Amino acid sequence: MTSHSDSRTVRLGLVGVGRIGRLHAQTVARQLKQAELVALTDIDQNSAQQVAREFGVPKVATKFQELVADPSIEAVVICSATNTHVPFIIEAAQHGKHIFCEKPIAADLSEIDKALSVVEKAGVKLMIGFNRRFDADIQRLKKAIDSGEIGTPHMLRLVSRDPAPPPIEYIKVSGGLFFDMTIHDFDVSRFLFGDVVEVYAAAGVLVDPAIGAAGDVDTAMITLKFANGAIGSIENSRRAVYGYDQRFEVFGSKGSAASANHYANTVTVSTNQSIARDLPLYFFLERYTGSYQAELGAFVRCLVEDTPPPVTGLDGRAPVVIAQAALISYKENRPVRLSEIK
Ligand SMILES: NC(=O)c1ccc[n+]([C@@H]2O[C@H](COP(=O)([O-])OP(=O)(O)OC[C@H]3O[C@@H](n4cnc5c(N)ncnc54)[C@H](O)[C@@H]3O)[C@@H](O)[C@H]2O)c1
Repeated sequence: MTSHSDSRTVRLGLVGVGRIGRLHAQTVARQLKQAELVALTDIDQNSAQQVAREFGVPKVATKFQELVADPSIEAVVICSATNTHVPFIIEAAQHGKHIFCEKPIAADLSEIDKALSVVEKAGVKLMIGFNRRFDADIQRLKKAIDSGEIGTPHMLRLVSRDPAPPPIEYIKVSGGLFFDMTIHDFDVSRFLFGDVVEVYAAAGVLVDPAIGAAGDVDTAMITLKFANGAIGSIENSRRAVYGYDQRFEVFGSKGSAASANHYANTVTVSTNQSIARDLPLYFFLERYTGSYQAELGAFVRCLVEDTPPPVTGLDGRAPVVIAQAALISYKENRPVRLSEIK
């Protein structure tokens, strides 16, 4: 039987209506029966007005402070630029709002710890947007490990390449490749194989010198050692000309489980020259649509059912520690133990 509390509607406010914020606004407006998007805000007020009109959101706040001061809002969805996450988490928690925040929390661990301690004191829920945990392929890989199908895990292989780099303005406030992009792969690594103990990263600027001029890298190969003795590898590029390349494999004593790229159709065209197919789905918005809907659904459910969020603040912190180690490894050209990161 459904209790009254199970059937209530959660009133949400959202900040940042860029690539991911617009998608989350759409998910809340069109997919989630138990949530209502009552207000949104963005420093780009025109975009905010436009997204509000598109998804029937009744209120556009002039700034985040106005949004969190609204007593009718129970929780906020933070989708603004990475360098706003910590101040917005702190303000939301101080106003007693539950929080869904996009990855990463920040690149700086003391900033993250400050935010997590305010959240804990306020007694609000915080979930971090590691959507890949909600992807059907990654969940099936996890099942192959947890059920013993592949036996004792030996190796993890994550190929994760974007079709094109984001704008330089985005890169500058993103925290850099390891914190912005590889952070998903670090999270998936933890999700599938458990704690990481050592990282070795080779990286470079091979796609666009402007990314190097902004102080970042655009290409990386990273090896991981796990506490359970297993070994992993991550490959990243900011530009795969054929589209979003997301291929994963877990390998163990009894076999392997692998996932392939996703396509808009399954047609192969065979001629006397070649056997060809269309390119993979272009980018994250297309490839991971289902996972974004599932993660926000899980956030709303943890509020309605008053259960812990499925991806916690500590789950948000852990891959940042791995990213810190990767950055040191790249700069100093040596393997780095996670125990070195304070
Ligand atoms: N989980 C994922 O797969 C995923 C995918 C993309 C982005 N992200 C994360 O989401 C965040 C946003 O990324 P994006 O790609 O949507 O970026 P974006 O640049 O497309 O959008 C960011 C939006 O935030 C707004 N903004 C910036 N500062 C603000 C402030 N102080 N107050 C209000 N609005 C502000 C900008 O005007 C812009 O509309 C980043 O932290 C990024 O790491 C996560």
